[in-house]
Amino acid sequence: MQKKARIIGMGSYLPSKVLSNSDLEKIVDTTDEWITSRVGIKERRIAAPDEHTSDLAVKSSLVALERSGISKDQIDCVIVATCTPDYLVANTACVVQQKLGLSNDVAAFDLQAACSGFIYGLSVAKAYVESGLYKHVLLVSPEKLSAFTDYEDRNTCVLFGDGSGSAVISTEGPGFSIDACSLGSDGSCYNLVYIPGGGVKLPPTGETVASKEHFIKMEGRETFKHAVRRMTSASERCMEQAGLTKEQISWVVPHQANLRIIDAVGKYMNVDPNKVYKTIQKYGNTSASTVAIALDELTQAETIEVGEHLLLVVFGGGLTWGASIVTKVAN
Ligand code: ACO
Repeated sequence: MQKKARIIGMGSYLPSKVLSNSDLEKIVDTTDEWITSRVGIKERRIAAPDEHTSDLAVKSSLVALERSGISKDQIDCVIVATCTPDYLVANTACVVQQKLGLSNDVAAFDLQAACSGFIYGLSVAKAYVESGLYKHVLLVSPEKLSAFTDYEDRNTCVLFGDGSGSAVISTEGPGFSIDACSLGSDGSCYNLVYIPGGGVKLPPTGETVASKEHFIKMEGRETFKHAVRRMTSASERCMEQAGLTKEQISWVVPHQANLRIIDAVGKYMNVDPNKVYKTIQKYGNTSASTVAIALDELTQAETIEVGEHLLLVVFGGGLTWGASIVTKVAN
């Protein structure tokens, strides 16, 4: 029988510097009241100037590796799901491969699906280990969004933070089996959340820098509507794929972009609000890493029994979205 992929170790890392709502009140025209009531964020973490995306990745990966019980030498593929890479070229996964001291026989590549990167990565890792192509995949979703955030734009700068989550995926060992992954996209809305400059379409010039084309732009209200709709439909499809009903889901771990979106997804899933895991109040939106960090914290903080099902659900720029069902397994 084909062996099912499972997450055998998780880890997360948050930089130590805290940027609170009252700090932001001193920078832009905003208030703690507005941010708390409209978005649900109280504070977020900001990486040091010399702490790059690859450094965040290494820190969360060392924890995940230790908890997985396998050695670094057993990793044969590194996937870095990020939209804030150290460089356009070389890929951040290669930088991580080198910083972790992994062998040259390891495959290393980046995957870009914005905030949905962790679930997209999970689906790739699942396919790799189940096919037998790779045995132990290290999936990392590190983000240094502060590097692409305009701290003069109150529409975006209150939302984002930095952080990283890692998972070791294999077919053997205790952890969480990856039962289903359901992904989606809509490129017609690419410009609802994007960084206009720096790519082929708008290469960097003095002008693009002066007009702030290298920062994240977002049409908040429109994005909000898509987020709720897509996260609920992805959840539906994924449960169908796994042959599960809403009642069989113990915990919902959603992308952390806005407390109102999280609450809407929880309401749709009809779960006890205490079973919808939230980190948004302390970390804000850390893009691809939110769901990995939340899953790591949840599994450290709560006892999850063998057989319990968790629904992970994400939404991000592209637009991209996805959901995954993971189930606690003993072996
Ligand atoms: N402080 C005070 N006022 C503000 C702020 C702020 N920080 N930001 C915006 N406002 C103002 C606006 O200027 C606007 O004023 P106006 O009516 O005078 O023009 C008013 O507040 C309402 O603005 P909206 O954009 O309509 O506010 P909304 O309630 O929609 O909240 C938000 C904005 C938080 C961005 C919300 O739309 C949202 O969460 N959108 C979805 C984000 C998302 O899902 N992202 C996920 C994908 S992207 C990613 O994760 C990287």
